[in-house]
Amino acid sequence: MRQEERFVSSMKNVNDSDLDFTLRPKTFGDYVGQKQMKDNLSVFIAAAKARGDALDHVLLYGPPGLGKTTMSHIIANEMGVNLKITSGPAIERAADLVSVLTNLSENDVLFIDEIHGLNRSVEEILYPALEDFALDIIIGKGPSARSMRLTLPRFTLVGATTRAGRLTGPLRDRFGVICRLEMYSPDELKIIVKRSAAILKIDIAEDAALEIAARSRGTPRIANRLLKRVRDFSQVNGEERITLASARSALKLLDVDESGLDLLDRRLLDIIINKFDGGPVGLDTLSSAINEDTSTIEDVIEPYLIQLGLISRMPRGRVCTRAAYAHIGAAYPADAPLNRQLTFIDGDGK
Ligand SMILES: Nc1ncnc2c1ncn2[C@@H]1O[C@H](COP(=O)(O)OP(=O)(O)OP(=O)(O)O)[C@@H](O)[C@H]1O
Ligand SMILES: [Mg+2]
Repeated sequence: MRQEERFVSSMKNVNDSDLDFTLRPKTFGDYVGQKQMKDNLSVFIAAAKARGDALDHVLLYGPPGLGKTTMSHIIANEMGVNLKITSGPAIERAADLVSVLTNLSENDVLFIDEIHGLNRSVEEILYPALEDFALDIIIGKGPSARSMRLTLPRFTLVGATTRAGRLTGPLRDRFGVICRLEMYSPDELKIIVKRSAAILKIDIAEDAALEIAARSRGTPRIANRLLKRVRDFSQVNGEERITLASARSALKLLDVDESGLDLLDRRLLDIIINKFDGGPVGLDTLSSAINEDTSTIEDVIEPYLIQLGLISRMPRGRVCTRAAYAHIGAAYPADAPLNRQLTFIDGDGK
């Protein structure tokens, strides 16, 4: 299944664009949750502003849809500077990066999304730019070539990635502030659902907002999307207000269950349990069995299932827990715990 077609996929889909624009918080005040990150960043921003200096480089990492891009806008907004947006894969050649960097103004924020996608030659140019605000460029070719140092304005790089592990050490070390975004609690998501409903002029009952929040996999992007879909159902049914009952029946039609799992999640659990005896099953095997990329499984499907304690990652592969058996209504085998334990000890090299 294409991730863009899943209602509960945390990945961005085409219909999200205008939604993002209207619903994206613009200030720290509107940005719900992530308290620690907000507290830290607001201190650093206030300090940088008081010194009249650029903010230290910031790395934001975490699963899709948790608010990385949103936070980069807020940082630029709170600093009162321009935001330039690009992405790792879009900067193909060193010259592309040179042109981006030389077009920055003093204290600007440069946002590089998917920063793990930068290629090595581009990354090497970035190092002196981040450290010394300078570019070393070679002019000419052969014996007459000479190196020239170009001074850049002081700027802040905000890098975002869903896979911090793929960043090279030297690049990671050049970020002064590293923030990990956490999944949101249902109560936080409820605030987001109510805020979005107010902006979109949707009348929704408290308990209905919480119901949507609880099924949104800890992800604001999914909460906003489910709200819109549920609104569509209510509208077609001629209801003026979204009630708990109407939210529930719409979510049922969307195949999103009480825990926020959809058909694909349940299929993954079903395959591990019924085809691979509950695991452990390797990522590549699982990927062929459900016909999804390994990166989709790792970045989009698994984080929430792990968070719910339905699967766990063992050294030798993925394992379904007792809760997963209960979730799909399968009987938990009596000898399973022992198997799992041996696998773990074995795989851990002890
Ligand atoms: N803390 C928050 N408070 C309120 N709304 C939020 C918050 N975080 C995210 N959102 C909403 O969720 C949407 C998706 O967030 P955003 O695009 O920033 O995610 P992302 O982490 O950049 O995802 P990706 O990894 O796919 O780029 C935003 O348009 C915004 O409306
Ligand atoms: Mg983003």
